[in-house]
Amino acid sequence: MFDEGQYFAPVVSRDDGSLAVQLGDGHPGLNDPEYRQRRDQLATMADRWVPGEPAPRVEYTDQEHDVWRVVCEDLRAKHTTYACQEFLDGKEALGLPVDHVPQLEDLSDHLEPLTGFRYRPAAGLVPLREFYGVLAERAFWATQYVRHHSVPLYTPEPDVLHEVVGHGNTLADPRFTGLYAAAGAAARRVETPEALDFVSRIFWFTLEFGVVHEPDGLKAYGAGILSSPGEIEEFRDITIRPLDVLAMGTQDYDITHYQEVLFAGRSFTHVEDVIGGFWTDCDDDSIAALRAGAA
Ligand code: TRP
Ligand code: FE
Repeated sequence: MFDEGQYFAPVVSRDDGSLAVQLGDGHPGLNDPEYRQRRDQLATMADRWVPGEPAPRVEYTDQEHDVWRVVCEDLRAKHTTYACQEFLDGKEALGLPVDHVPQLEDLSDHLEPLTGFRYRPAAGLVPLREFYGVLAERAFWATQYVRHHSVPLYTPEPDVLHEVVGHGNTLADPRFTGLYAAAGAAARRVETPEALDFVSRIFWFTLEFGVVHEPDGLKAYGAGILSSPGEIEEFRDITIRPLDVLAMGTQDYDITHYQEVLFAGRSFTHVEDVIGGFWTDCDDDSIAALRAGAA
């Protein structure tokens, strides 16, 4: 559907300073002028955001609210069945609306007393070091656009449903945010591109696509699974490997399709110990030594 790895459409500046989002071949919104205009508008608003200011308020259309509702209603029962307990705890604490797209700024006001986290509006791809680094300050970069109404079940682009239904519910739970903040600290500590790549792959296989054993079966805790009504039904049937820092930090993945290999913790505590512990202690040297041991 998209070029591999190109899950964020590139954004270019026009002469008047506004942004144009370059939807790729096969994007479901490519031939929908209204959708394209909307994407450009939201990217431009986010781009003009100044740190310290509230995130811009978006007046979502009825169609956007509809997509939100369809996805949330579909996910309601699926979360109960497939989401890990800590996610369900966060979901209960945050109490997201089902019938309309909430505003990032209002969500930040709810999250901050719970875990200290606030959202920042993203126009498109945020450079890795910046995206991960600000997690250490309990800030989270988030897009504000809604996936195209023709593809509610899965999108390779991280949209507001992913940022809020997937990540937001986890950002409301202190055990999760301990992991996010540790990932941010690790991203700030490492200097080499290889080490940052390693840290970000581990983020991918945990906070984006992690799964964990619970007494009644395998559950998802990764935001990428928990925001996709399609993928959430498939993750139990693929290759599941045990937690392994070296394997996770070097594993390739493709975001344009459902994942083919995932890594499961024996419990959420096991994830905190192994992954949280890794992010807390790692540096360029320890990561280089891990890689060398594998070679
Ligand atoms: N596939 C996710 C969904 O349908 C959204 C998503 C797009 C995503 N890109 C991502 C999730 C990258 C995690 C990482 O909701
Ligand atoms: Fe994400």
